[in-house]
Amino acid sequence: MSLVILGIETSCDETAAAVYDGNRLLSSVIASQSDHVDYGGIVPELASRAHERVIHDTVAAAIRQADVTSDRIDAIAVTEGPGLMGSLLVGLCFAKGLAIQWNKPVIGVNHIDAHIYATFIDEEPELPFVSLVVSGGHTQIFHVARPLQHELMGQTRDDAAGEAFDKIGKLLGLDYPAGPEIDRRAKSGDPAFYDFPRAMMKKGLDFSFSGLKTSVLYYLQKIPEKEREAFLEKHRDHLCASVASAITDVLVNKLQQAVRQTGVKSVIIAGGVSANSMLRDKARKMAEKSGVKLHIPHPRYCTDNAAMIAVTGWFKADQGLFDDLHLKPYARFNW
Ligand code: KG4
Ligand code: ZN
Repeated sequence: MSLVILGIETSCDETAAAVYDGNRLLSSVIASQSDHVDYGGIVPELASRAHERVIHDTVAAAIRQADVTSDRIDAIAVTEGPGLMGSLLVGLCFAKGLAIQWNKPVIGVNHIDAHIYATFIDEEPELPFVSLVVSGGHTQIFHVARPLQHELMGQTRDDAAGEAFDKIGKLLGLDYPAGPEIDRRAKSGDPAFYDFPRAMMKKGLDFSFSGLKTSVLYYLQKIPEKEREAFLEKHRDHLCASVASAITDVLVNKLQQAVRQTGVKSVIIAGGVSANSMLRDKARKMAEKSGVKLHIPHPRYCTDNAAMIAVTGWFKADQGLFDDLHLKPYARFNW
């Protein structure tokens, strides 16, 4: 009988729990925090307190929806990092508590690995593959030859792609997190409205997005202050489309370079930004042109969730990679 894994995710501002049995996702519950909207970004202290408030009910709901008893659960997979230290600790302590109560092992899961393995919830990508992970905290390209063995090919030198969407969105007067709203508005805007810079296009597989943010800031500062709000009101959708176009051009260009360099036949795009429709369209065209199969998780598994933690935990359990109660969180991870 296949292993049944309970997954718990608390690395950032989503408290989530899910149950996966090796074939099927039995449940996936997400409690998103709205406490941060007024602050224009995540406040770590508020995030940990919110996790603490809802983690019990979230995990209980995931177990109830999966319709399993605790003795059917073989291990508890939990995000160990990277992420906010206080937030990670809430999930880890809860997972360890359950492990003691149920006498089951814990499995520490790397959040970035999990974004990649979210793809396996609905599909079975062929190995080796190249994976672009684009989230609020990360922008990295990996070559994956075997499950859970990743070779870093390139990464951002400053802001992550999601961070660029969020920070630029703030300049454009949008609420945090601005990525989904920029995506929505970009659909009715003109991507050629303004030609924002595409940094490091031809220079290897590293990324840089802080220059784009500065360029949007300078662009807006050139408009006299008393006219700025009216200008934004009129052109916001066009600016969203132009910004999304600049970010997604760079992402897809680098992904194509990585495909050429490695000769892989499959590509995965994962992480919150992989929900972006312009990125999905451009990547689909690139994949067709390059003759590779493109895999992107269902949008509900692109942003933070625990289904991806349970699935990655399942892969680790399958390889006998269990942890014990000494499992520690880490804020950063160097590949
Ligand atoms: O993976 P994720 O949920 O959390 C992290 O691990 O960071 O990613 C969140 C990021 C945010 O920056 C959010 O603005 C961005 O993903 N995002 C999007 C879209 N949906 C989420 N960015 C662009 N277009 C979207 N549709
Ligand atoms: Zn994430």
